[in-house]
Amino acid sequence: MNAPTAATTVPALAAVGLHKRYVLGDEVVHALRGVDLTVQPGEFVAVMGPSGSGKSTLLHLLGLLDAPDEGTIALAGEATEGLDDDALTDVRRQRLGFVFQAFELVPNLTARENVVLPAEIADEAAAAAERLTMLADALGITDRLDHRPGQLSGGQRQRVAIARALINDPVLVLADEPTGNLDSHTGREVLDLLRSGVDRHGWTVVVVTHDVQAALTADRIVFLRDGAIAGEARTDAADVRAQLDGFLAG
Ligand SMILES: Nc1ncnc2c1ncn2[C@@H]1O[C@H](COP(=O)(O)OP(=O)(O)OP(=O)(O)O)[C@@H](O)[C@H]1O
Ligand SMILES: [Mg+2]
Repeated sequence: MNAPTAATTVPALAAVGLHKRYVLGDEVVHALRGVDLTVQPGEFVAVMGPSGSGKSTLLHLLGLLDAPDEGTIALAGEATEGLDDDALTDVRRQRLGFVFQAFELVPNLTARENVVLPAEIADEAAAAAERLTMLADALGITDRLDHRPGQLSGGQRQRVAIARALINDPVLVLADEPTGNLDSHTGREVLDLLRSGVDRHGWTVVVVTHDVQAALTADRIVFLRDGAIAGEARTDAADVRAQLDGFLAG
């Protein structure tokens, strides 16, 4: 038997040929025009691009919140086409974690209750107790678990939201501008925590960000323009900043 190689690893995410059109009256917005994206387990990918380039649309499709008009999405080698709404909901709950700009915590639940909520919904409460301890430690919120969201800072709220996204041990975590409501210092801390979760616990993360510094925390930056991938840079490349300047300049 050969040892597994990168080439034989099943990707956490394989999206191929994604198209999405929005119809608004007489106008059709072709928001995605054939996007391919493969993410390996344990990889951290940042998506950048100008406003309206299709970043949120892409994350919605990858999150199975909306269906592509064309193209396919597989999670950990499992196709998602043709699943009915109930099956899609199950895949979302069991395989995906979401982090939003606005945190979206339940205000009258404690941090602990917010984090374990997806596990309770998935009937995995027992398994969640152990993961809660690990996640709270990894995210530095152990001493905040009995606070309600209103008693937490923005950065702490977002860390609770990240713990919630990870409680069911998802194949993929999707984050759309998770630092958009945070000051730059706190935003940087949140990205650093995602980075260390990827390094220490093998999380797999796709994050949309406008912040170059934040994007440089990832392994790879994918740049969208007009609904298509305009370029890609590895953050360990010596000329990554020059490559990014080129993308940003258009
Ligand atoms: N529900 C919708 N109905 C109609 N058009 C939409 C809808 N959602 C997005 N669009 C359009 O699709 C295009 C891509 O939008 P999207 O939200 O994906 O951009 P984005 O890159 O996330 O931008 P931003 O950086 O401003 O968040 C835009 O032209 C947008 O107006
Ligand atoms: Mg967006």
